[in-house]
Parts: sequence; C-alpha cells; structure tokens
Amino acid sequence: MELEDLKKQLAEIEHQAKSLAAEVTHAEALRQVKARILGKKGTLGKLMGTIRDYAPEVRGQVGQALNAANKSVGRLFDECANRFREKESAADSARAGAFDPTLPGDREMPGNVHPVTAVQWEIERVFERLGFTVEAGPDMETEHYNFEALNIPATHPARDMQDTFWLANDRLLRTHTSPVQIRTMEKFGPPIRCIVPGRCFRYETIDASHENTFHQCEGLMIDKDISIANLIAVMRLLLREVFQRDVKIRLRPGYFPFVEPGFELDMSCLICGGDGCATCKRSGWIEILPCGMVHPNVLRFGGIDPHVFTGFAFGLGLTRLAMMKYGIHDIRVMNSGDLRALVHPARLAGPTITGTLPLVIHGAETSGDAPGG
Ligand code: DAH
Repeated sequence: MELEDLKKQLAEIEHQAKSLAAEVTHAEALRQVKARILGKKGTLGKLMGTIRDYAPEVRGQVGQALNAANKSVGRLFDECANRFREKESAADSARAGAFDPTLPGDREMPGNVHPVTAVQWEIERVFERLGFTVEAGPDMETEHYNFEALNIPATHPARDMQDTFWLANDRLLRTHTSPVQIRTMEKFGPPIRCIVPGRCFRYETIDASHENTFHQCEGLMIDKDISIANLIAVMRLLLREVFQRDVKIRLRPGYFPFVEPGFELDMSCLICGGDGCATCKRSGWIEILPCGMVHPNVLRFGGIDPHVFTGFAFGLGLTRLAMMKYGIHDIRVMNSGDLRALVHPARLAGPTITGTLPLVIHGAETSGDAPGG
C-alpha cells in the first residue's frame, strides 16, 4: 500500500474510532470496540504489523503515521473509559448522598398465625385436655362419606343447602367436616372422643358472610350412656375457654339429618350482656353452633351398634368463631391475604369480641346464616 493510501486509511480508522467511542455506553461495549480496532486482528492492529512490508526509506514515515494513529485512538478510548469511571463514582456518591437518616427505616413485619389457625389451636388445646384426639380427613370426599353415610340420601332436600364442587373423578369437595365422623368410627370404633378441624367448601355466591372456602371444627363423642347433659357440659367449657368468661347458653331445636334430636346452640351476647344490641339483632343471643345426638343410622353407617352406644356431635364454624373473636366483619378477608387480618391474634392481650378493631370492609356484619363459616 502506498504511504498516501495508508494515511487515508488511518484517518478513516480514527474517524470510525471517534464515532464508535461516542456511541458506547458501558465498559464492556468499549472493550469490544477497542478489540475491533486495536486488537491484533483489529483494523489498526493489523496495519501495525505491515510496517515490515514497506521499503526501508519510507519505513520511518510509515512508522510515524502508524504510531500517531495508534496513540490518538488509544487516547480516545482512555478518555472514554475515564468517562465511565466518573459516571459510576458519581452514581455511587448519589446513592450514598440519598441516605436520609431522618426517614423511617424499613419496618419489620413480625410474622403471625392466621386468626382461624389461632382459634383452631386454642380449641385443640381445650379438647386435648378433655382426652379428645384431633382427626383429619380428605378435602376431596366421596358422596358416600359426605352425604349418604350421614343420613342424607340422594333425594334429600338437605343436599340442596350444601351444593358443592363436583369433580371429574366422581368425588366432591367436602361441604363440612362431618364425613370425618364416619371415617373415625370406621377407623377406631367406640369409644370415640375426637375433634376434626378442617377446610370445607360450598358452591356459594361470595359476600360478606359467605365464602366458597371456610373452616369448621367437627366434634364427636361416642360411648355408653352419653347424653345431652354431656353435650351441654362440653360446649359450656369450650365457650368459657375460648371467650375467657362464663357464658350463658341455650339450645333450640334445629334440624340436621345426622343428629336426632338436633339443636342450635346459642350463647348470650357478649357485647350487650344479653340486653339486646345490633350484633345480636336485639335478641340477646348469638347463634354459635349446631349440634345434637348422633342419629342411629349414622352410628350404623359407621359400624357402631346404636343400642349399645350413643353420642353427641357438633359442627363449629371455625371461620365464623375467629371472626367473632377478633372482630372481623367480612368473611372475604379471611382468604384474602389482607395483612390487617393477621394483626389480630397475637396483638390482643385477651379475647375481644366483634367491633373492637377497625377491620370492616364494605361495612357488612357477619350474619348467623354463614355456611358454617
Ligand atoms: N355439618 C353441618 C353443616 O355444615 C353442621 C353440623 C350440624 C355438624 C350438627 C354436626 C351437627 O356435627 O351435630 O351444616
């Protein structure tokens, strides 16, 4: 290559280096551009090696031209690298400068158990002291355990009230914890003393007091000579422990196919002491749980002779109880992940009844017709 051509080419390379250096935005890109030009196989790097190809009399000039180009391109890239370094340290100091000691720090949110879990543990503790075991059954049930064996045949109108999610495998999502009554009878035989806390499901339109997923706690006691007196004594003890005070209770007749007789157990309203207020709808009583003496057919389905053994059962709405205890007015909060709901159990020194904490969403009251929820 003629010296003149070489000089032209070097000028072009310098020009290209300049525009590339102006374009790169970070160190890695710069390194690549540098390699493309100054590297051994780079446009300028390659030319540097050609000096030997020139006649000795022009070598001096060729060398000068090459060195000058090499230096100027090198300087260009050095400046570019410096620019990046400055930018980075400016960002560092901006970050450091952003620290404002007067701002509140990151608040640590202590973990907490869900209100339903808190109430469940409390109930388990009470019943374990009475010699009850804690049993469990599947969420996905058979029609037999959920209905049939509980004295609710296919044609029974009670099935309408417990519509649920039917699965492709002929199973269903259990509508209550009662099927575990039968499972426990089959598993252990009499005598039985157990509770069954667990998740239940209903095909419901969701509102402040209805959810498609909620928790119940079943109770079952079977032995010789078990009577309604035992039921009343156990229920009174349970409510006293949960609400930390003596509560008045009353039984009203209630119909459930799997108990006979069946009752609705009411508790005197803890807000007004029984005088009547908005929470108890002026009645002085709050419906707390359905219960009754286990129907002979149910005992038979569980393989127990009803002429020898009797028993009582109850179905406590765990979700509803947790809402009452912690003053949560909207059932939708319970499955929502709303952290305000988690503030309740651990923070409250003692038991608190409806209306003490401002967790009211859409202002709805829990009503007595929640589906065991
Ligand atoms: N399983 C019933 C329901 O979800 C509640 C119930 C009522 C359970 C009476 C019982 C009982 O054990 O004795 O509606």
